[in-house]
Amino acid sequence: MSDTTAVPIGIPTDRERIFELPPELENLRERRPIGRMVYGDGHVGWLVTSYSLARTVLADSRFSSRADLARIPVKLSAEAEQARKDIPPGVFHRMDPPEHTKYRRLLVGHFTVRKMESLVPDVERVVEDRLTAVEQAGPPADLMRDFAKVVPLHVVSQVLGVPEDEHDRFVRHVSVLFDQESAAEDVAAATRAIHTQFLEFVDSKKRAGAQEDVLGHLAGSGELPDEEVATVGMVLLTAGYESTANMLALGLLALLEHPDQRAKALSDPDRLERAVEELLRYLSVTHIGPIRTALQDVELGGEKVKAGDSVSIALPAANRDPQQFACPAALDIDNSPVGHLAFGYGVHQCLGQHLARHILRTSYAAVFRRFPALRLAEAAEDLEVCAAKPVLGVSRLPVVW
Ligand code: HEM
Repeated sequence: MSDTTAVPIGIPTDRERIFELPPELENLRERRPIGRMVYGDGHVGWLVTSYSLARTVLADSRFSSRADLARIPVKLSAEAEQARKDIPPGVFHRMDPPEHTKYRRLLVGHFTVRKMESLVPDVERVVEDRLTAVEQAGPPADLMRDFAKVVPLHVVSQVLGVPEDEHDRFVRHVSVLFDQESAAEDVAAATRAIHTQFLEFVDSKKRAGAQEDVLGHLAGSGELPDEEVATVGMVLLTAGYESTANMLALGLLALLEHPDQRAKALSDPDRLERAVEELLRYLSVTHIGPIRTALQDVELGGEKVKAGDSVSIALPAANRDPQQFACPAALDIDNSPVGHLAFGYGVHQCLGQHLARHILRTSYAAVFRRFPALRLAEAAEDLEVCAAKPVLGVSRLPVVW
């Protein structure tokens, strides 16, 4: 029987329901776990949908992360395409080893499990302060705007070392940067403003002597020029903010929609830890990318990937692969989602994963402790899903209690 599966143009993201995989991805994984896909610039590259092939690509140094080689699986304007290629030094997640390794080595000590333990009181304070503000404003509340977007921003600012008195200005710029309603020129202006602010912080931290936070440490180490330290700050902010904000909001939505799972998750800390892993797998918010480019011809899953071909990994499809996970379409915290790929795999595996886990655990527990009768103010099917952005999310999370 011939395979009539159509070649997709870009990664399929259209969902019938928020928690269901796009049916096209389901179909591709079953029939063509590595298949052709048309990229935004017309390049005919590849899309990987199975767990085993996703892991293989992410672990294989014959596939590059370099920005100048990558094609994007969505159509970009001419300016966006140009901006994507004009990568300043310091954008380490778009480099390959050994250049990439130099930056990871400098940063890894700030994101260890141990380091995160020392942040526990800070994260708890940020979360409780936000919940107090939500409570005082009274129901209804939009937990996306008033909680999920605010908590990661405060925590990441603290890790980076944004000074207290600069915080409000910083938050204003970041809000423009990540607001989907912002015009392109406002986003560009906010990006420049944040970069300039990072340069100012670097300068004052150098004058004050090396400090504990990321920017202070990098500035004091003398290993990177100031411009690059500021760029690394931008990378951490952009990599960490939207993914954590959307994971927070979608995780709360999933727990609201699955009361039996919520009860289990909140019953003890071990189960909460497992619940966070299962939510990461089930939601797989990084739903467009990672993208790699073949540096040489590679045999993959019976296909010949040619040097220069781009390969996109559909993490939501890989994380619901029945060959790897039992009952993958269900949210079940008794499942053991060991080895899920929500944080990627290989040398580029998420640097901030322990921080993200910590924010999620603290937040889910605190929200339902503060508002035990929390419920959605609108039907889940009526919420607007932001499917076209690289990170899956909802535009609002309206709740009452
Ligand atoms: C739930 C929240 C998060 C999710 C789902 C997530 C997901 C991911 C994924 C899938 C990758 C791999 C990309 C690739 O292979 O090309 C990645 C890389 C990365 N993430 Fe996260 N992330 C989260 C939170 C954070 C946070 C809080 C930070 C830091 C503040 C962060 C910083 C990074 C960085 C710097 C990289 C690039 C690492 C490298 O190339 O060496 N992420 N993340």
